[in-house]
Amino acid sequence: MELSKVIEERRSVRHFNDKPIERRVIEDILGYAILSPSAHNRQPWHFVIVRDSLVKEDIALMLADYGDEAVMVTCNVIRDCQALVLVFADITEEVMDIQSVGACIENMLLRARDLNVASLWIGYILKIESELKRKFSLEKRLIAAVALGYTDHFPKKRPRKTVEEVTEWW
Ligand SMILES: Cc1cc2nc3c(=O)[nH]c(=O)nc-3n(C[C@H](O)[C@H](O)[C@H](O)COP(=O)(O)O)c2cc1C
Repeated sequence: MELSKVIEERRSVRHFNDKPIERRVIEDILGYAILSPSAHNRQPWHFVIVRDSLVKEDIALMLADYGDEAVMVTCNVIRDCQALVLVFADITEEVMDIQSVGACIENMLLRARDLNVASLWIGYILKIESELKRKFSLEKRLIAAVALGYTDHFPKKRPRKTVEEVTEWW
C-alpha cells in the first residue's frame, strides 16, 4: 500500500477474529518499529510479545481488577487479540525517550495496517505497570501495549479536528 493510504486507513480495532498471526509477521512489524527515530538514537524500546492465551488471560484479569466499563473493553481486546506487544523502555531523559517510543509504536501500527493486520494502541495497560514489571522481571518503564491480530472489518474513520482548528500561522 502507498504510505498515504496506510496512514488514512489505519484504525483502532477492538474486534479480532481467530486467525493466528505468524511469528514472522510480528517480527516484520517490529523490524519497522525499530526504524523509527529516537532521541540520540538511544532506541530505548524493549518489546515483550505475549501470544500464550493463559498469559493474555492473566494480564486481562489483572487489568479488569482496576476496570470501569471502558477498561473492560480493552480487557476483552487483550483476550481476543493474537499477540499483545508490551512496550517497555529504558528512560534516560523522560520526555525525549517517551516521544521516541511513541514514534516507534506509530511505525508498528502503520506497518501492521500495511500487512492487513489490525491493531490497538493500549494506554490503559499502565494501570498494571508494577504487576507487569514484576511478572516479566523487568526494571524498565512500561509505556504502552499494542494488540495485534486480524479482523473481519476495519471500523469507520473516527472524527478529527481540521488542520485549521489545530494550527496557527505566524
Ligand atoms: C497513547 C494512546 C493510548 C490509547 N489507549 C487506548 C486504550 O487503552 N484502549 C482503547 O480502546 N484505545 C486506546 N487508544 C486508541 C484511541 O482511543 C484511538 O486512537 C482514538 O479514539 C482515535 O481512533 P482511531 O485510532 O481509530 O483513529 C489509545 C491511543 C493512544 C494514542
